[in-house]
Amino acid sequence: MRKRKLDGNTRFHDQNTIIIKKRERITNMGKILAGKTSDIPPGKMLLVESEGKTILVANENGNYFAMDDTCTHQGANLSEGTLEGSTVTCPWHGSTWDCKTGKLIAFASQLKDLASYKVIVESDSVFVET
Ligand code: FES
Repeated sequence: MRKRKLDGNTRFHDQNTIIIKKRERITNMGKILAGKTSDIPPGKMLLVESEGKTILVANENGNYFAMDDTCTHQGANLSEGTLEGSTVTCPWHGSTWDCKTGKLIAFASQLKDLASYKVIVESDSVFVET
């Protein structure tokens, strides 16, 4: 396999290290490692904190979704609520949210929708794009 010297570096790289470099660059562009798939079993939610953002990652029947974790009513952590199907219920006052879209499903008053994020599963790792 052909090897090349990296800029100003005594290390050499081969095809495998090129792949690692690409992952690092993607991570720097806002791709967060949320955890392993085993950390988020079906029907469960996980809170991920990165660069001042709190993001809820949910596993709905083996499909992963992510949205902001902070309820836009009075700031509860939605990941401390419950997940039934794709519906997240706020632990404080019961607003309901669709974890697939971040949109409010129901509450007594209109609330601002939450940002939702793309989730990528690579091998057994779950990444969120912010
Ligand atoms: S804080 Fe979520 S409904 Fe009030």
